[in-house]
Amino acid sequence: MKVLVINGSSRGEEGLTHKLVQSFTAGLRSGGADVTVHNLNNMKISPCKGCLKCMHNTHGECVIWDDMYVLYSELKNSDLFVIGTPVYTDNMTALMKVVIDRCMCAMSPFLRRDEDGRTRHEYNWRMPEYFFLLSTCAFPESETFYPLIATYKAQVKNFDCKSAGEICIPGALALITEPQLITERLGMIERSGELIASGEGLSLETSILLNRPILSPAEYIRIASKYEDWCRNQTKAEHL
Ligand SMILES: Cc1cc2nc3c(=O)[nH]c(=O)nc-3n(C[C@H](O)[C@H](O)[C@H](O)COP(=O)(O)O)c2cc1C
Repeated sequence: MKVLVINGSSRGEEGLTHKLVQSFTAGLRSGGADVTVHNLNNMKISPCKGCLKCMHNTHGECVIWDDMYVLYSELKNSDLFVIGTPVYTDNMTALMKVVIDRCMCAMSPFLRRDEDGRTRHEYNWRMPEYFFLLSTCAFPESETFYPLIATYKAQVKNFDCKSAGEICIPGALALITEPQLITERLGMIERSGELIASGEGLSLETSILLNRPILSPAEYIRIASKYEDWCRNQTKAEHL
């Protein structure tokens, strides 16, 4: 199985998304997958111009020649596309959204009805058959991920692909300041990568266990308030 993993965190290897990506890819690799990882914060990818030449003139080639071409060739040759993104303003990061928009060139101008009877495009070329979502967010509640998961699922359908699952761990700020709290979950994430690479996939029970919040809102507020104190002291020191 060939896997393309993209980390859309603006903080790249400094962030919690990177830790989730590292554990998941370690598991994918030990399950036998051939994995390529890219950090979008190191790449130069411009937003889609909306010219639609890819759809109407160039049969699937984008007219913007930038690092997106590295991703195009990997997307065309991968079986699984792992979208690693923290929640920014209730959805994927702008860096990741640009990548998804630029995948518009996979679509041809011809239309079809999908299995739900909705109007969708035919394709110039196909995205990986399976998608997977790996995410984290600051707030401790799992509901924070709902808009992101809805967007992710809509994209899976737009590309006529399938979802291999989602791992969304809330409470990032506390998990970054107290990293021991996430150690066990990282082990589970690694194991789930292995299950996916081996073709076994994630059961509903495993997904529920993986995605349950690590901290209650009260625990989160207690831990986050230590960070707030640090911020207040910093601000006071700067104004002295
Ligand atoms: C611009 C911006 C917007 C954010 N919006 C949200 C949000 O809507 N909900 C939330 O829970 N966290 C939000 N966060 C917090 C991030 O999800 C959190 O800090 C996460 O750890 C960032 O990922 P990273 O550690 O990989 O950098 C936001 C952070 C930034 C920088």
